[in-house]
Amino acid sequence: MSENKQQWGSRLGVILAVAGSAVGLGNFLRFPGQAAANGGGAFMIPYFTALLLLGIPLGWAEWAMGRYGGRKGFHSAPAILGVMGKGKIARYLGVLGVLIPLGVYFYYVLIESWCLGYALKYLTGGIGIADGQPISDQIASSSAHFATYTGSKGDGSVFDLSGGLMSTLLVAFVLTVIANVWLLFRGLSGGIETFCKWAMPAMAVFALIVLVRVLTLPADATNPDQNVVNGLAYMWNPQWDKLGDPGAWMAAAGQIFFSLSVGFGVIINYASYMRKKDDVVLSGLTASATNEYFEVAMGGLITLTAAFVFLGLSLTTLPGGTFGLGFQTLPVVFAHMPLGNAIGAIWFFMLFLAAITSSLSMLQPTLAFIEEATGMKRRAAVALVVGISLIGNAYVMWFSKDLTVLGTIDDWVGTFFIVVLALVQCIVFGWVFGIDRGIEEAHHGAQMRIPKVFQFIIKYVSPAFLLWMLFNFVRDVLPKWIENLGANPTARNAVFFILLVILFLVVMTAIGEKRWRAQGRDVDGQLPAQD
Ligand code: PFF
Repeated sequence: MSENKQQWGSRLGVILAVAGSAVGLGNFLRFPGQAAANGGGAFMIPYFTALLLLGIPLGWAEWAMGRYGGRKGFHSAPAILGVMGKGKIARYLGVLGVLIPLGVYFYYVLIESWCLGYALKYLTGGIGIADGQPISDQIASSSAHFATYTGSKGDGSVFDLSGGLMSTLLVAFVLTVIANVWLLFRGLSGGIETFCKWAMPAMAVFALIVLVRVLTLPADATNPDQNVVNGLAYMWNPQWDKLGDPGAWMAAAGQIFFSLSVGFGVIINYASYMRKKDDVVLSGLTASATNEYFEVAMGGLITLTAAFVFLGLSLTTLPGGTFGLGFQTLPVVFAHMPLGNAIGAIWFFMLFLAAITSSLSMLQPTLAFIEEATGMKRRAAVALVVGISLIGNAYVMWFSKDLTVLGTIDDWVGTFFIVVLALVQCIVFGWVFGIDRGIEEAHHGAQMRIPKVFQFIIKYVSPAFLLWMLFNFVRDVLPKWIENLGANPTARNAVFFILLVILFLVVMTAIGEKRWRAQGRDVDGQLPAQD
């Protein structure tokens, strides 16, 4: 049996914890960045299609698999996929379900600490953008601040304590790590669940304040077209001609996975602490719906709209991507609005809350895996997880020039491996465990039934979609990434680093398998689960 038995305190608690994992920087930074990069409204059709064909059905599969695995006393993706997928192949592919949360944590928590650092700066007077300069100068000074603060101007520069600025990042980082470790150590119900229960509503209130401020922004007197309505139109008017662009579909599906925390091994882990009679179908849908509310109604309305009202269509030529809008463009907008510093502080603190409920969900699967594989006591396992994650953080922080390591890990772990793991989960659930058995399992204790069409979707449509994505990756994306590795030693080392982590996890899985067999447990899922 599992050595350290943990359980959720309440149904609302588990829903908020999963929603907390889902709602994060992906909703407020990545989503608007992806939408802007893929033509605004053009992005939304592939996005909602991917939600229906991948996000929601695979989310249900993960909830059901996690709860089933939990009944066999397993909590980590390798063990659970081994049971559901009946053997070694699925078990070792399940290593991805620990690698992804852990690897994403290496850089995610850093961004989380930028948010805390920016919030603290706004509380103490802002980031020093002088109003009255031309906009382009203001953007330049905001970008320069970002580059210095995050170390993207040079390797090791974050650790240069000679300027006061850098040390604020380190202070924010230390505070962020302490918060994560403390909540993780307090345990599932006492730490993660309790925190999510107050952080989620607080986040909603803060996001609403920023949203109302943005939607009531007056139009620029000299450019009356730069108004809220046109800003919304930029984001929401569909552009049908973009539908044939495979890049937009890949980006949309990647966003759905990243945002919903589906395809990561996180939901499998969280659901494994549920009981057989606990509902997973409505809970899964509620958590996904909560995520979509924050993503589309908050993330999608705040950043782009605010940037558009102040900057108009030149927005498309500004620092874009995941960080450009949130960290470089919005500070310029805040500098112009009344009470801008207060709104800036609320915005970045809200991002910090959103991020911490997500980063906790990246540590818990790793912790569960280490406890389960080695039989270590909780305290020792927490120490090991903290040690490993600090090595990863330090690595990303030191090699900060152009954020190359961060970007490389995000590409391989946070984008490519997710598709692979999602495909593995889909095949294990729909084909090896069997779709009929899988749906029956999901329906135990369920407060709504999974509509029949989703059986077909999970078995055929989702894997076909994922295979198409994999094909596109192999044909169009990976060759470019690999070519880049040849030219860029920092990126190459980052890939070696990832391989090293994979090796470590594989060895741990082997150790775990041996232990579980010695304990006479049903490692290969030959027996039905007990109630
Ligand atoms: N879903 C989170 C977000 O949208 O920011 C990100 C995330 C959570 C990634 C959990 C990975 C993970 F394991």
